[in-house]
Amino acid sequence: MRRLVVTGGAGFIGSNFVHHVIEHTGDHVTVLDKLTYAGNLASLEGLPEDRFTFVRGDITDASVVDALVSEADAVVHYAAESHNDNSLHDPRPFLDTNIIGTYTLLEAARRHGTRFHHISTDEVYGDLELDDPERFSESTPYNPSSPYSSTKAGSDLLVRAWVRSFGVQATISNCSNNYGPYQHVEKFIPRQITNVIRGIRPKLYGAGENVRDWIHAEDHSSAVLTILDKGVIGETYLIGADGEKNNLEVVELILDLMGQPSDAYDHVTDRAGHDLRYAIDSTKLRSELGWSPKFRDFEAGLADTVRWYRDHESWWASAKDGVEAFYAAKGQ
Ligand code: NAD
Ligand code: DAU
Repeated sequence: MRRLVVTGGAGFIGSNFVHHVIEHTGDHVTVLDKLTYAGNLASLEGLPEDRFTFVRGDITDASVVDALVSEADAVVHYAAESHNDNSLHDPRPFLDTNIIGTYTLLEAARRHGTRFHHISTDEVYGDLELDDPERFSESTPYNPSSPYSSTKAGSDLLVRAWVRSFGVQATISNCSNNYGPYQHVEKFIPRQITNVIRGIRPKLYGAGENVRDWIHAEDHSSAVLTILDKGVIGETYLIGADGEKNNLEVVELILDLMGQPSDAYDHVTDRAGHDLRYAIDSTKLRSELGWSPKFRDFEAGLADTVRWYRDHESWWASAKDGVEAFYAAKGQ
């Protein structure tokens, strides 16, 4: 039984990972999470008490971090400020958590020789043209566009430097856009689903031509566990499930799944610096570590997700009005 520390385990992908680990391994999980607006303890309900501990704390707090990392076999680092639109409004927390927080964890991993896996994003590579035949791979140069993605890129580079300079036992993964249960209603897919539930028309930034490469959060979790078990120290692995769709297609699918006319959406003000297209080539992870995704049917995964938000209104209701007020003030 390994003792894992999962930072950001009360957030969207972190909580999916914690449920995945409890279900598929014998490991013990300690979640370290600050419970910002994005953290929700309800996402961790029902976990067995002997396998799971929750600690409320900030990853920039060196004493809390050190105490937990000293007792862990491995750290899986999800905690971050994660939303591009927030980073355009107020970048500072992104610098604190994504840069200083990652630095604080790396220093603890260095002191205690603890295995470290860093969760990152495909956004560090910038964006692609719609007709570019290439996809992002591990050798694509870094070229982030937003305050969010630039702080994630900075955190990746810190991890690489701590591996090379100090011998920290770390791996990195960069994943594409996740969907599934427990995602905050500020994000694209949950925002549109909960809009329809509330009788609000879905909101598409600009023309809706921007492409994202969707992967179910459950597949992201299985990939991270594979890297933790079999990944080569110092290596980066891209995680993706060949799920490219433009935003208009996704909105039309949501409307269709929810019994609405396919044109019942509004175009709103575009995001500043909006990345056009992300697309992942995950050949290295598949061929070297033998991973493959289980959710290959996006429409079926999206239908499950719609059902989850319909069935869990109490999980998201308290955040919805504030999120819509934030967007309305920006014409979005
Ligand atoms: P999220 O915003 O849903 O959750 C972030 C969690 O981190 C929250 O529980 C929050 O309380 C916690 N947190 C924030 N600041 C903290 C701090 N200073 N100390 C401790 N905890 C803190 O984010 P998410 O979408 O689940 O993303 C998790 C990770 O995965 C991030 O590193 C993100 O960059 C990466 N990622 C996300 C996606 C995606 O599609 N959502 C894709 C690829 C990579
Ligand atoms: O690619 C991985 C990244 O995916 C992660 O690193 C980020 O943490 C995660 O938030 C996500 O970033 P995006 O900016 O791609 O996700 P978001 O859900 O904010 O938006 C997805 C697309 O939908 C994007 O093109 C913007 C658009 N959009 C978003 C919202 C909230 C809309 O058209 N309307 C909306 O209301």
